[in-house]
Order: sequence, then C-alpha cells, then structure tokens
Amino acid sequence: MTGPLTTRFTEAFGVRHPIVQGGMQWVGRAELAAAVSSAGGLGMITALTQPTPKDLAAEIERCRGLTDQPFGVNLTILPTITPPPYDEYRRAIIDSGVTIVETAGSNPEPHMGMFRDHGVRIIHKCTSVRHALKAEKVGVDAVSIDGFECAGHPGEDDIPGLVLIPAATARLSIPVLASGGFADGRGLVAALALGADGINMGTRFMCTAESPIHETVKQAIVAGDERGTELIFRQLRNTARVAGNAVSREVVEILRGGGTFPDVAQLVAGARGRRVFEDGDLDAGIWSVGMAQGLIDDVPTCAELLDRIVGEAVDIIENRLRTRTAVA
Ligand SMILES: Cc1cc2nc3c(=O)[nH]c(=O)nc-3n(C[C@H](O)[C@H](O)[C@H](O)COP(=O)(O)O)c2cc1C
Repeated sequence: MTGPLTTRFTEAFGVRHPIVQGGMQWVGRAELAAAVSSAGGLGMITALTQPTPKDLAAEIERCRGLTDQPFGVNLTILPTITPPPYDEYRRAIIDSGVTIVETAGSNPEPHMGMFRDHGVRIIHKCTSVRHALKAEKVGVDAVSIDGFECAGHPGEDDIPGLVLIPAATARLSIPVLASGGFADGRGLVAALALGADGINMGTRFMCTAESPIHETVKQAIVAGDERGTELIFRQLRNTARVAGNAVSREVVEILRGGGTFPDVAQLVAGARGRRVFEDGDLDAGIWSVGMAQGLIDDVPTCAELLDRIVGEAVDIIENRLRTRTAVA
C-alpha cells in the first residue's frame, strides 16, 4: 500500500512511508523494529545488540512474529581490537531470509558480494559525500547520510545536514536518506526539498512507547534540549555524539588533557552504557543521543509518530508551501 509521500526510496524498498529507523545499539530490538515497520516505516534490528549470530537469528524470528511488514537488519562494521564474527552475523542475516540490510561504520564492499548473491538490498550509512559516492560505486542500493547533528558517529568533517544532504544528492544517482536531526514533519519536508528520498531517525525512535529502554531515559530526552549532547573521542578521530553526563564530560576532559584511549576505556565500556538503558541510571555510562532531542516533547507510539510526521509533512506541502496565485 502506498502512502501520500511516494519517493524512489518507498518504491525501491516497498515501504509505505519514506521513514527509516536506523540501527541503534541496545535499542534496535524486535519490538521497536516491528512497531516501525507495522506503522509503515522501515524498522531495523541491530545485529550486534545480539550477543551471538544465533541470538540474532532468534531475534529476527521474533520480529517476524510481531509484524508482517518488511524490516531490515543493521550491521555496523567498526574496526575493533577483537572484532565480532561479522561473517557469521552476515550468514545469520542471509539464512533468516532478511532482504534489507543497513551497513555502517566502514566500507561495505567486503560484504556486498554475498548479500547481492542472496538478493539482499543494502542501505549504506555514511557521513560524507566521498564515502557515499564510494558506496554507490560498489553497488549499494541507497545511502543514508548522517549530518553533524546525528547521534552516534558523525565523522570528522563536522558538516551539518543543511549543506551535507544537498551536496550529496547533487552528485548521487541512487536514493538518499537524510539522517541526523530529523524528528518531525518539518524535517521530512526539508529533507525532500534538499533532494533526499526520505529520512532516517535514531533519537526520535528511541523516545517512543515501543522503544525497549528505561522510561527514565525517555523522560530525559523529553526534558533535554538541543545543547544536551557531548562530542567524545575527538582527539582519537573517532568522534561520537552522546548524552552530556558526568561520564562523557570526564572522558572529554581526560582526552583534552592529553589522555589516550586506555585512560578512558573503562569509562566508555559498552556494558556501562547498556546499564543506562536497562536500569535508567543516566550517569552509569556513555549513551548515544542526538541534537534532535531538542525537538522531542513526548513519547508516542510508533504508529502515532509516523502518522503525525507524514500528516504534518503533507499539510506543510499542501497548505503552507502552496504557491498562491494573486487574484486581480
Ligand atoms: C542509542 C543509539 C544507538 C545507536 N547505535 C548505532 C549503531 O549501533 N549502528 C549505527 O549504524 N548507528 C547507530 N546509531 C545512529 C542511528 O542509526 C542514526 O544514524 C542516528 O541516530 C541519526 O541521528 P538522530 O539521532 O539525530 O536521528 C545509534 C543512535 C542512537 C540514538
């Protein structure tokens, strides 16, 4: 079923609305992905939130039990000291019959052949025009482009979406999803006006009824404003936008003072960040959130949220932006 805003993205990926829920560590579980997809968007399970490829296969099955709509899986490929078994996660995705994958973190090329051979369509998420062009060249089906506003890794160029998205859409031929800082219908219309074929959101979906995180975190996002984030790891050229809290401020101070990764490793441990989401202790560790929290005032269901975003976008296009012919 097509929605009121049909784009190259909705047509190519068979979804009703041009709205994607990007991969989110500890947040992108079956209940959220299913709720987004059932509401007409494209939900995404986050592969590495599952401790093993076998658990990922079970999570995909669980999601199938919750929605009959298409959903995808995010595979974040980051260079780490002890990398997870990416090939096995990729195998689990293919064997589970998932046909849409969001890759992120590094060049998707090593994974393309196998995904392609099994009919999987790839949305590659990146943070620069040059990386988007490279992804297009190696054959991805669409790109998500994260501007400097985004939660998680905005890259090192510091180019906000208002420039990055039109700079990218001017040069790419494949569908583009604008990402970073989007939370409502105004943002969706802006993204379409900048040449994008839809939007990708993280922070906004984190703050929904179906998002499987502690209520205290959702209320912190509602209470927070656009200044409430911190950029960590700048000196390591691995910048991450996270919530401003006691831990992130300590990390910034240590690295600014000449510290190196081992000096902050214990502070930024993933297990501590996970506790924020599970226990609602906002200072337990590092947790990702974007500037878009300044645009978030409530905790709707995903269906309410998508209806509202699309309804607002249509209203803006049809009423507020309509050219008026002067009557003599
Ligand atoms: C809590 C959280 C965890 C995230 N984890 C990942 C991840 O594991 N992999 C990834 O590719 N992107 C991750 N992201 C980034 C989102 O997929 C998305 O690109 C980003 O949130 C867009 O910016 P926005 O938050 O302003 O909407 C995460 C975002 C959040 C809020």
